[in-house]
Amino acid sequence: MCGIVGYTGPREAYPIIIKGLKRLEYRGYDSTGVALQNSGLKVYKKKGRVAELEDMMIGKDIHAHTGIGHTRWATHGEPSDRNAHPHSSASGKLAMIHNGIIENYAQIKKELSNKGYTFSSDTDTEVLLNFIEEIQKNNQCNLEEAVRIALKRVTGAYVILLIDETHPDTIIAARKGSPLVIGIGKGEHFLGSDATPMLEYTKEVVYVNDYELAIIKPDELILKNLGNEKITPYVQKLDMELAAIEKGGYEHFMLKEINEQPETIYDCLRGRLDITTGTITMAGVEKEMERLIHANRIVIVACGTSWHAGLVAEYIFEELCRIPVEVEYASEFRYRNPVIFPGDVIIAVSQSGETADTLVAIEKAKDQGALIFGVVNVVGSSIARASQAGAYTHAGPEIGVASTKAFTAQLAVLTMVALKLAKQKNTISEERYLHLVNELHAIPEKVAIVLESAPLIKALAEKYKDAEDFLYLGRGYNFPVALEGALKLKEISYIHAEGYPAAEMKHGPIALVDENLPVVFVATRDSFHEKVVSNMQEIKARKGKVIAVINEGDTDTAAICDDVMTVPEANEIVAPMLSTIPLQLLAYYIGLAKGYDVDKPRNLAKSVTVE
Ligand code: AGP
Repeated sequence: MCGIVGYTGPREAYPIIIKGLKRLEYRGYDSTGVALQNSGLKVYKKKGRVAELEDMMIGKDIHAHTGIGHTRWATHGEPSDRNAHPHSSASGKLAMIHNGIIENYAQIKKELSNKGYTFSSDTDTEVLLNFIEEIQKNNQCNLEEAVRIALKRVTGAYVILLIDETHPDTIIAARKGSPLVIGIGKGEHFLGSDATPMLEYTKEVVYVNDYELAIIKPDELILKNLGNEKITPYVQKLDMELAAIEKGGYEHFMLKEINEQPETIYDCLRGRLDITTGTITMAGVEKEMERLIHANRIVIVACGTSWHAGLVAEYIFEELCRIPVEVEYASEFRYRNPVIFPGDVIIAVSQSGETADTLVAIEKAKDQGALIFGVVNVVGSSIARASQAGAYTHAGPEIGVASTKAFTAQLAVLTMVALKLAKQKNTISEERYLHLVNELHAIPEKVAIVLESAPLIKALAEKYKDAEDFLYLGRGYNFPVALEGALKLKEISYIHAEGYPAAEMKHGPIALVDENLPVVFVATRDSFHEKVVSNMQEIKARKGKVIAVINEGDTDTAAICDDVMTVPEANEIVAPMLSTIPLQLLAYYIGLAKGYDVDKPRNLAKSVTVE
């Protein structure tokens, strides 16, 4: 989710671009840059925040009336000066910024390399830019036509802004899969990955659609499709305020990120899970395949929500790969004197990639010869760099302190890794493997269905918001979901909530049950369902209030509950990505009903980089 800004018109471009980039930093940044039409094309870029770019620009000639700017959320290539955008073409006459992922960039890069092209970055963006320039040179066509030809060849998602030294007042832009907004001014035009950078200058905007290409000059906007047919721009009047846009129109980042999950899980699977061929492509797994499939043991180290993802993974890896798994709180693991064998595989799960306990834990294990496999959201973060292999979750920046979309993305990645290893080890039948691949592929759509029940869950939140304690219970794959639901409630509403294996109740905690205690069961249909229903009966028999996450149509279970939240049926191995959603919403709406800051809960930090 990169930030994109462009301007062409009578004003000084640089201040507009820099201010716009600062407004887009919430979308994630690890590096940033600008390209200015200033008697030739000038590109300035560096790793770090926009403020650091500004410092670098002091004293430079920043006069320009046309320019583009970018804040990067890395997907290909570590955060660094050379991987920052804008990228320059081989000739130096073109500069481009890009948001999205070009999935077939490796093939295109190989073709260009065979023609003698060299690359100064690891990014897919530079490959696309040189591909465009190569087409322009080869076909003797104008830049607009070269862009059209190139975009018909690439697969993946993109928003690109391209400027050309030989046409200093023109910006060429195109979009597929990532947002692009054009602001209409008087004799000037603004561009952005959302409307945030242009709101103070104009509220008249054109939202570019997929497969559309725009040629923008100060006093002219031409919109075309990739078939070179002109399209009449549909100008809308923005009625959103600045703050609302950063949250995509949602009241809070947490609610936005909960609702992003169909898209973020899809992004996590994209380019990896292919249901037509039944293959799962993960370079980080393939490069260490031998050590992974011959692991004597997998030790998962993580904290908080990521630790819950590790617990789900424990069930999945043991079930599918028949490898013993232990899940460790990183903070405990690092202070023990753990016995680690060179044949061990350590899976480090972390959204931020900067959690100190997890980082120290893996360094300790690495010193004893284990293989470190990182499942991380922030590209180039410390834990990602400390891992010898890994897989990014591609959930985009998670701003809300309570982790939501990162959790389901972690589950998606861990499930793909387990399936890939199980197939390699032959510990799973082809039929079951293909069934689970299809089940995983269907998750984004099913998550969207669960999100439609938000109004019902909001009503439940109103009903139970004054409870002083909650219990969350589940079995098997849903036990970690119960723990995660309890953590979400604690974090956001400050209500005491405990997660427990449902079967564990009879060993003491059932003494807590009375008519004031809401007990949330995660009770989707799986191999433990009947047992969980018996546990519900035990709670009801003691006047406890039973709230349950159940499958759509499960009327028998609904009949014994006080309230239910429903999710579509899914195989128990992928079901946690669904059953966790109602619990995220329940925590959000209870916190909201209690008037708390759900994005920045008291006492919490987004990334715990202290010990
Ligand atoms: C999750 O809602 C919490 N904010 C917290 O438990 C978090 O999961 C934990 O600090 C681990 O963070 P990480 O995934 O960035 O390593």
